[in-house]
Amino acid sequence: MPRFEPHPERRPALVAGASSGIGAATATALAMAGHPVAVGARRAGKCEELAATIRAGGGEAFAHPLDVGDSDSVKAFVAAAQDALGPIEVLVSGAGDLAAERIHELDPDGFLAQVQVHLVGAHRLVSQLVPGMVARRRGDVVFISSDVVRAPRTRMGAYVAAKNGVEGMARAMQMELEGTGVRASIVRPGPTATGMGMGWDAETTGVVLEEWVKWGLARHPYFLRPSDVAAAVAAVVGTPRGAHLSLVEVQPEAPVEAQPEAPVEKP
Ligand SMILES: NC(=O)c1ccc[n+]([C@@H]2O[C@H](COP(=O)([O-])OP(=O)(O)OC[C@H]3O[C@@H](n4cnc5c(N)ncnc54)[C@H](OP(=O)(O)O)[C@@H]3O)[C@@H](O)[C@H]2O)c1
Repeated sequence: MPRFEPHPERRPALVAGASSGIGAATATALAMAGHPVAVGARRAGKCEELAATIRAGGGEAFAHPLDVGDSDSVKAFVAAAQDALGPIEVLVSGAGDLAAERIHELDPDGFLAQVQVHLVGAHRLVSQLVPGMVARRRGDVVFISSDVVRAPRTRMGAYVAAKNGVEGMARAMQMELEGTGVRASIVRPGPTATGMGMGWDAETTGVVLEEWVKWGLARHPYFLRPSDVAAAVAAVVGTPRGAHLSLVEVQPEAPVEAQPEAPVEKP
């Protein structure tokens, strides 16, 4: 008799922020692992294209517009996704953008917008989906955080604050959900090559990079691919019941340096 019921064969997954980047790659990876996927973002056309590509590859996918900044939009997305695919067993909360400014130079509405999209948006999804997971005594919630929680960067302080909020909420949930069968997990990507641009001109980018180096960051020039982060999410979700990858940080590997030539031995 196993200690835990294994995952059910059908585990529909909902990916918020799936029109590009990490979210799109995650939806693709989960579909390839056999999950029916519901994909949502404000650019609904991009989500439709992604769902069509997944279906053409033999997967099951449903697309719907989603703005995590709007409670009614979140409710409509969740309801439509569950009508189309059945009860959602996996939530990936990854919608986000970046206000690339110093905190004291960012206006309060800009600060609030960062908290809205990353933190309140994640909570809107949680409040719609986690009660059902608790009732079923199983489910996975994956929060896409950022390595800025471990090592904050300058010129993105509102983002740093919002992602700290996300991890705080996730850690409190891990305690509250203990014994319910629902696993809340944090995936914390390092620098990833996506559309999340910083919008700085070349001169400012140079200055910012110098700042980051000064603070011990930007150690090498390689970035993760979105598919690298997606693989980590798929691993978290695919971990058999009984274990919980509660926090996974994903970093780009540094370029491999040529082996220094061995000194020539004198005869
Ligand atoms: N790129 C990095 O270096 C990096 C590092 C660590 C963590 N992350 C995190 O990874 C996640 C994905 O970002 P990414 O790098 O893949 O950038 P991205 O390609 O710009 O993706 C962001 C996604 O979020 C969606 N989104 C933004 N605002 C939304 C809203 N109000 N409602 C619904 N969807 C919304 C966007 O779609 P629409 O614009 O169509 O709505 C898009 O699908 C973010 O949470 C980000 O903080 C990124």
